[in-house]
Amino acid sequence: MMQTRVVGRSVPRKEGRDKVTGRARYIDDFTFPGMLYGATVRSPCARGRIRGISFEGGIPWNEFTVVTAKDIPGRNYVALILADQPFLADGVVNHPEEPVVLLAHPDKYLLEEARRQVRLEIEPLPAVFTLEDSLSRKEVVWGEDNLLKSIQVEKGNVDDVWAGADFIIEGEYRTGAQEQLYIENNGMVAIATPEEGVTVWGSLQCPYYVHKALVPLFGLPENKVRVIQAATGGGFGGKEEYPSMIAGHAALLAWKSGKPVKIIYDRAEDMAATTKRHPSRTRHRTAVSKEGKLLGMEIDFVIDGGAYATLSAVVLSRGTIHAAGPYVCPNIRIRSHAVATNAPPHGAFRGFGAPQSTFALERHLNKVARAVGLSPEEFRRRNFLRAGRTTATGQVIREQVDMNRLMERAFELSDYRAKIERFARENKSNRNQKGIGFASFMHGAGFTGGGETQLASVVGVEATAEGRVRVLAASTEIGQGTNTILAQIAAEALGLDYEQIEIAPPDTGAVPNSGPTVASRTCMIVGKLVESAALGLKQTLLGKGFLREGYSRADFTRACGDYIKKFGPLKSFSQYQTPPEIHWDEENYRGDAYSAYAWAVYVAEVTVDSRTYEVCVDDFVAVQEVGQVVHPVLAAGQIEGGVAQGIGFALYENVVWQEGRMVNNQMTNYIMPTAADTPPIRVFFEEVPYGYGPGGAKGIGELPLDGTAPAIVNAIENAIGIGFDHLPVLPEALLEALEASRA
Ligand code: MOS
Repeated sequence: MMQTRVVGRSVPRKEGRDKVTGRARYIDDFTFPGMLYGATVRSPCARGRIRGISFEGGIPWNEFTVVTAKDIPGRNYVALILADQPFLADGVVNHPEEPVVLLAHPDKYLLEEARRQVRLEIEPLPAVFTLEDSLSRKEVVWGEDNLLKSIQVEKGNVDDVWAGADFIIEGEYRTGAQEQLYIENNGMVAIATPEEGVTVWGSLQCPYYVHKALVPLFGLPENKVRVIQAATGGGFGGKEEYPSMIAGHAALLAWKSGKPVKIIYDRAEDMAATTKRHPSRTRHRTAVSKEGKLLGMEIDFVIDGGAYATLSAVVLSRGTIHAAGPYVCPNIRIRSHAVATNAPPHGAFRGFGAPQSTFALERHLNKVARAVGLSPEEFRRRNFLRAGRTTATGQVIREQVDMNRLMERAFELSDYRAKIERFARENKSNRNQKGIGFASFMHGAGFTGGGETQLASVVGVEATAEGRVRVLAASTEIGQGTNTILAQIAAEALGLDYEQIEIAPPDTGAVPNSGPTVASRTCMIVGKLVESAALGLKQTLLGKGFLREGYSRADFTRACGDYIKKFGPLKSFSQYQTPPEIHWDEENYRGDAYSAYAWAVYVAEVTVDSRTYEVCVDDFVAVQEVGQVVHPVLAAGQIEGGVAQGIGFALYENVVWQEGRMVNNQMTNYIMPTAADTPPIRVFFEEVPYGYGPGGAKGIGELPLDGTAPAIVNAIENAIGIGFDHLPVLPEALLEALEASRA
């Protein structure tokens, strides 16, 4: 048997050749005979009543297909969690850029002129733009109380700790919105007729989310709706929920016109109208003993959900569960709220609530350490979680995690201790100030507790008579390497070569629902299903005597041919089963929030320029324990990319809001890090195989967004002695703080 181990090797990316040769077809490469272009007329106003729609200005309106809420054949809401967000505003608008009218025409330039000639007459209503105003119910703009979702976590009895605490430390921390900035903007193509049903192709992460949204929109049976992923140029959560909206729009125009319709957003529309990371505010109140032990933590976590519920409940959940981090504390209360404002809904973005609450905690613990008179590292060392101890939700950690070892390794690799001393000495005589800081954190892989149980994902594996094996899953390749790692896992399980494995295109008409491509779940959860489906297929051939253990590649091919001749198609399916020791109580937020966590310590080194007030990240060390690494190059790439996005979150990316609208919605005025702003990102993995992961792997995709920003802001504090409690830390903030400190 040709036992080449495939898992753990950096094999060529499955679709890499197609991408570099230009053969890969992204959604704007799709074209159909008679195809029309579609455009969206959006609300100019944050909240109001629609009094009239008029079509003006020398446009041949009779040539246009025009769709409003009245044309919707089924139900006018984007099915996801709550049924509150319409595909097209009907009577009222609740945020700027809310879609009101759709237009289609064969000439995309005339279409754009026409879009500007649709006048929406809207009578404004009072609106809410900050999470404070939403919390205080200055105006009720959603439900009865503006609360999209509330969560409370209780561990021990936090009320009793304050009286006996040696130190009580409070802090408030804020993070801003962040745009995903995938290279490829959102886009969809639809064909839709009452006879044939609806088919859409698009740039998306979750084919079955789009499917779920289109079925009620058209009132069609499930088998009359088909969703197919085109090659996708990045997602980062930004193509998790909003593609359902665009797919619905393209399909509504196609349905009414009887022609294929393509909608491609330009960058300005994509940035203004689609989801971003939730802005947040976290308040901490912490009780500590004079020995530096955490006695009690009270955490108040609020995120701004925008105008509709979308995924805010789930983002809030992840942010809440991660709010107390990888530390042991006997008494914890976390109160969390996702509140409504009249901004476009905020949504999924890599990390999904955890970067917000982790920033707050990792800044706050530096403040706590100082109050107690310990270094940031010594304070954390005294409080790290380890096997046998419990998290905020009372989950007993079974993984053999050693945060202290990760921290020591990160310190060695970054020369942390020597640099702390050297920078303190040299800063006295240097114009520019250098600093080094770190963050320690964890990230749960997969859906929360019962979430995976409810998803009950399914994966299939199919063999051809030629001995080729095809993985059937709805998991999407969005640049992160899904196709490659799933093929590696299947090859490993079957003892075949990587090249023998193919990945079926994600098409709801052809592949089972393996769940959404989100939440660091593809490798660990879906990968495990690929592994067990592949083992099932092998077992079928062994059990029916077509194959014997120790088989060669030629034996496998012959066995597949013989089996198919005798019995027909050779397929094997596997469905998710909750590991037996995982118990989650959603009602009380108690128990095993995630089946496994990735654990990490990140160290950032910065220079603060005392004339330009710029912060330059000079070096970055990322040490993480992620189970077994399936593909070293892709895994390191995930971390490097995530750290780069984290640098943007920390130092550059600032959404400027005016009355609920993003006004810097261009890449010229929304600043993100370029290669010149990105230091060497040095990535190191500790590998502790995880029993329920494929080949021992856990999730990694979102991890680097959590720790990067607090490590950088902690490094700034080390450099200049000023601790910032908000993101992003722009030069303006540095100027103000430094001038104040000199005054
Ligand atoms: Mo999503 S932020 O792709 O879990």
